[in-house]
Amino acid sequence: MPQAKSRILTGDRPTGPLHLGHYVGSLKSRLELQEKYETYVLIADIQALTDNFDNPQKVSVNVYEVLLDYLSIGLDPKKTIIAVQSAVPEIAELTVFFMNLVTLGQLEQNPTVKTEIEQKHFKGGIPLGFLAYPVSQAADIAIFKANLVPVGEDQLPMIEQTREIVRRFNRYYGQVLIEPEALLSKFPRLPGTDGKEKMSKSLGNAINLCDDAKTVEKKVRGMYTDPARVHADTPGNVEGNPVFTYLDALDSDQGIVEELKTRYRKGTVTDAEVKERLIKILNDFLDPIRARRASFAKDKNAVMQILADGTARARKVAAQTLAEVKHAMGMDYF
Ligand code: TRP
Repeated sequence: MPQAKSRILTGDRPTGPLHLGHYVGSLKSRLELQEKYETYVLIADIQALTDNFDNPQKVSVNVYEVLLDYLSIGLDPKKTIIAVQSAVPEIAELTVFFMNLVTLGQLEQNPTVKTEIEQKHFKGGIPLGFLAYPVSQAADIAIFKANLVPVGEDQLPMIEQTREIVRRFNRYYGQVLIEPEALLSKFPRLPGTDGKEKMSKSLGNAINLCDDAKTVEKKVRGMYTDPARVHADTPGNVEGNPVFTYLDALDSDQGIVEELKTRYRKGTVTDAEVKERLIKILNDFLDPIRARRASFAKDKNAVMQILADGTARARKVAAQTLAEVKHAMGMDYF
């Protein structure tokens, strides 16, 4: 069991609004974690740039959007330190030291990076920054001396890479850094509205936390269900049916969900009826989030000040670790 004083760090790439998949997979547990641990959340704009270098504005605009998402779901800046990566230059410095502790082969073999490279079809070659982003992510984690990193399964190779770098660092230069552990999210990844394995903005199958009620209604009505079910009285499949996966994740009345499942399997409930339930559940869930978002959005300066304050706090910790790192390496000259 992690100790009471454990420090948590996690992060998101600001490339678009956060969606239900983020909520179920990680944001929800952050709300619980911030009550128990010292929690840092990093808006990883430099990492986001590694595959959006031709469009920095997409990244900078979404720093604000992601911040609004955090605040509107209830991340509390008094409990969670929210920081933006590019404004903590100590992370970049540590990344440079870490570069020596990783081989090209390790990066090329990182399963998550490999899959992403296949999906992204970089024209004109793989940017070095992209290939090396696990090194920068290791620095994100190590600079805050986090011992726990709440992540989804796709991030496990990053944590493993971080652990290896930290071990090598400590072996060469002395025990300075903490070998972190992944805290795997309890709920597996949420599928997309199209039934594909992963909800993602780029796949166009996401329900965003900032979607209005009409948009949610439209998206749910168009959701993939059981393709083999042509008539409402045909017995249907609940497994692999995203409408039910969402209900499992978000409906607090699991009794009703069980009853709907039974009727669905027997063919005594229509797809439309199940979707009505989901629309209600989602809109009830999103309403208070929307209200908080609207209220924060009234004062953008105040919202950005929260980020500035969090970043300043994070930077103090980062500067301290970097000083220890340089001292351990004998590179604290003055
Ligand atoms: N790579 C993570 C993602 O794509 C985002 C991230 C950046 C992160 N830095 C981090 C996650 C540090 C955990 C810890 O979701």
